[in-house]
Amino acid sequence: MSIRFDSETRIFVLETAHTSYHMKVDALGHLLHLYYGKTIGSGDLMQLYPRTDRGFSPDYYAYRTHRGISPDLLPQEYTGCNVGDFRLSCVTVADNRGAFGADFTYVSHTVEAGKYQLNGLPCAHAEENDAETLIVRMQDEVTGLTLELLYGVFARQDVITRAARLTNHGDTPLRLDKAASACLDLPFGRWDLLHFHGRHAMERQLEREAVGTHIQTVSSVRGSSSHHNNPFLILCRQDATETSGACYGVMMVYSGSYQMDVERSQTGLVRVVSGIQEERFAWNLKPGETFDTPEVILSFAAEGLTPLSQQYHRFLRRNICRGPWKDKRRPVLINNWEATYFDFNTEKIVKIAEKAASLGVEMMVLDDGWFGTRNDDNQGLGDWVVNCEKLPGGLDPLIEQINALGMKFGLWIEPEMVNENSQLYRTHPDWALTLPGRKPAMGRNQLVLDFSRPEVVDYLAEAIGKLLREHHIEYIKWDMNRSMSDVYSRAFPAEQQGEIMHRYMLGVYALAERLTQGFPEVLFEGCAGGGGRFDAGMLCYYPQIWCSDDTDAIERLTIQHGTSFGYPVCTMGAHVSACPNHQTGRTTPIDTRAVVAMSGTFGYELDLGKLKRAECTAVKNQIKRFKRLNDLIRTGDYYRLTDPAENAYFTAWQFAAEDGSEALLNLVVTHPQANPLPIHLCFRGLEEDAVYELDGIDYFGSQYTHDGGNAIEDGIHKGMRFSGSTLLYAGLVLPQLFGDYPSVQLHLTRKG
Ligand code: DGJ
Repeated sequence: MSIRFDSETRIFVLETAHTSYHMKVDALGHLLHLYYGKTIGSGDLMQLYPRTDRGFSPDYYAYRTHRGISPDLLPQEYTGCNVGDFRLSCVTVADNRGAFGADFTYVSHTVEAGKYQLNGLPCAHAEENDAETLIVRMQDEVTGLTLELLYGVFARQDVITRAARLTNHGDTPLRLDKAASACLDLPFGRWDLLHFHGRHAMERQLEREAVGTHIQTVSSVRGSSSHHNNPFLILCRQDATETSGACYGVMMVYSGSYQMDVERSQTGLVRVVSGIQEERFAWNLKPGETFDTPEVILSFAAEGLTPLSQQYHRFLRRNICRGPWKDKRRPVLINNWEATYFDFNTEKIVKIAEKAASLGVEMMVLDDGWFGTRNDDNQGLGDWVVNCEKLPGGLDPLIEQINALGMKFGLWIEPEMVNENSQLYRTHPDWALTLPGRKPAMGRNQLVLDFSRPEVVDYLAEAIGKLLREHHIEYIKWDMNRSMSDVYSRAFPAEQQGEIMHRYMLGVYALAERLTQGFPEVLFEGCAGGGGRFDAGMLCYYPQIWCSDDTDAIERLTIQHGTSFGYPVCTMGAHVSACPNHQTGRTTPIDTRAVVAMSGTFGYELDLGKLKRAECTAVKNQIKRFKRLNDLIRTGDYYRLTDPAENAYFTAWQFAAEDGSEALLNLVVTHPQANPLPIHLCFRGLEEDAVYELDGIDYFGSQYTHDGGNAIEDGIHKGMRFSGSTLLYAGLVLPQLFGDYPSVQLHLTRKG
C-alpha cells in the first residue's frame, strides 16, 4: 500500500519508490502538510513547526489565549480564505452576502485502487494498476462548501498528482474567484526557481533564479499555456546540479491561462500554489454544483535535475499520453509548410511526396491552405471545405497518389479559429469571442471561436469528424494561432463571463476527446504557432506537439534543451528544414539539422526536390539511421551533458537504454573556435561493469586536419571497447571538428 493513515495520530503517509509525503489532521481538523521529499522513517514531524507567537500572525480562535498556533505559520495542504493565512492562498470564495470566507476541516477520507479522474479535464491515468488514489474530504461549515483533495500516488514513478474538487453543499450560491489545484509548502532551505519562459519561435528558455521574499509568478493570461511561460517549474536547492541536490517539479496538466506562484514566507517556508489563472476568473457554484480544478503533477528527486526530468519523461510517456500511438514508432514525415507555404497544388505536393518516398519518408502532411479561400493567413478559417482550385477533385485524388507511393497522408486543421470572411462567421457571428460594443483585437486576422458553447464544439466535431470519416487521413496537425483577447460569450449571462476562459478550455478538451476517441488510429500532433500550447494537458490527447516554429537547428538546441526538463523527446515535433533557414537565415549542414531533429519526432519540412544529390543521399542515410535508433531515442533515458547557456562552443546530449544495453551521444558545435579546449565528455546511464563497443561514429562536418589527421588516428575510432566505468568516469575526447556547425553521433553497444 502506498497510502497509509494512522487513525491515532491522524497522519497520512504517501510513499513512492524514493519519496515520502506526510500530512496530518490537527486538533482543529485542519490538514497540515508535514513533509515531502526523500523517503523518511518514523519520528514526530510536528517538531519542525514550533509554536511561536509571531506578531501579526493571527491565532485560531480556539487558541486565542495560547498564541502561536496560526494559520499564517503552519504548512497547509490547501488554504482556506480570509481566515488568517496571509501567504499565497488556494481559494477565494464569496457567499451571496459578499462575505469572503472558507475554513476547511477534515471530514473523512477514502483510499481507492487506481487513479481518480476529473470531470471534463485531462489528467494522468493508471497503467497496469500502478496508481492509488487518496481522497480527503474537508468542509467549510459556514458555507457548506466541501473540498475533496485528490491525490494520485504513482509509487513506481515517484510521482504524486493532485487536484481539488469543490462542491456547494449549502443552500445558497457561492462564487469562486480563485480555485487553485494544489499548494506545496517546503519547510526549510534556500531554493532556486527554474522556469521556462520565451516567446513565439523561442519557447521554453531556461531561467534559474533564487527564490526571493517577493512572490514570483509563472503564468499565462493568453487563453493558452503560451510560448511565454510553460506551466512547469522546478524548485531545487541552490547548489543543485544535473546530478546532485534536491529538486521538486510542479507541472500543470492544463492548456489554458494558469498561474503558478512561489513565495518565501516570514519563517522561510516556501509555498508554491498552482492552478487556473485568477485574473478574470469567477466561477458560480450553485447549490449542488461541483468544480474540478486542473491537475498538477508533483515529483521529487534527491539527486539532481536529470533524474527529475527522467521521472517526468517516463510519467508523461506512460501515464499522460494515451492511445495506440503513445508507445509506437511515429512515421518519419514530410510537411509542406516551409516548402510551399500557401502556394501549392496537387501536382506540387505529389512531386514533393514522390521525392520524399524515394528517400524513405513515410508520411506526407499537407499543412495550412488546403481549404476554403485560404490563400494567405488572412482568410478562410472556419469553412472546412477543400479548395478545389488547388486540389482538383478534392482531397481524395491527392491522398490516393500519396498512398500509392506507400506513404500515409496527414492534414493540418485549426478548429478553434474563424475569419470574418468565412461562411461560418457570416452564419454565426455570435460564435466568435468579441466584446460588446468594441472592435476585437485581431491575431493573424482571425477570431477565436467560443468553445464555451457546446454547439460550437458539436459543429467542429461534425466538420472534422466528416473529414476523417470520408478521407483516408492518418494524421492530424491541430494548430492554434493566436492568443485570446476580447473574451466574452454571447451565450452566457453577465455573472458567468468570468467562467468563459475555463469553459473554453473544457470545450477544446471535449473536442479533442471526441476526435481522439472517435478516431483512435489517427496520430494527432498538437501545435499553437509552434510550441504555444506545449503542456501535459494537450499531451493527454496528442502524443506529440510541434515544438517551435523556429526550425533553425542551432536555435532548436536551446528550445529542445529547455523543453527536455519536463517533457520527453518523443513528444517534441522536430523537422529538418531548408537552408538558409527561413527564420534566422543561417546555414547549417543538413546532417546537423538531422542530428537535432532526431532528438524529437523527426521529419522534414522543405522541398526535397531542391536538394543536391549528395544531400539526398544524406537524407536517405539519416532516415535509415533514425529507424535504427528510433527505440533508443524514443524510450531511452535522456541526459543533458552541457548547458547551452554556459557552453558556447558545443552542445551535447545523450540517450541510454533503460537496461544499459546501448547509448547514443549527440554533439553539435555551435561556435567553432580556432584553438579550442578538447571536447571531453563522460557518458551517463551505462553499467559500470559492462563492456561497450563504439560501433557507430558519424562525424558530420570535416575534422581538423592541420596536423595531418594525427589527432583522429590517435583518438577514438570505431570498434574500440571500453568498460562502462571508463566511459562514465574517464570519458572520451572527441576530435576537433572544423567548419560551420559540424556535429557528431557516437553509438555504443554493450558487448559483455
Ligand atoms: C503555425 C504552425 O506552427 C506552422 O507549422 C504552420 O502550420 C502554420 N501555423 C500554418 O499556418
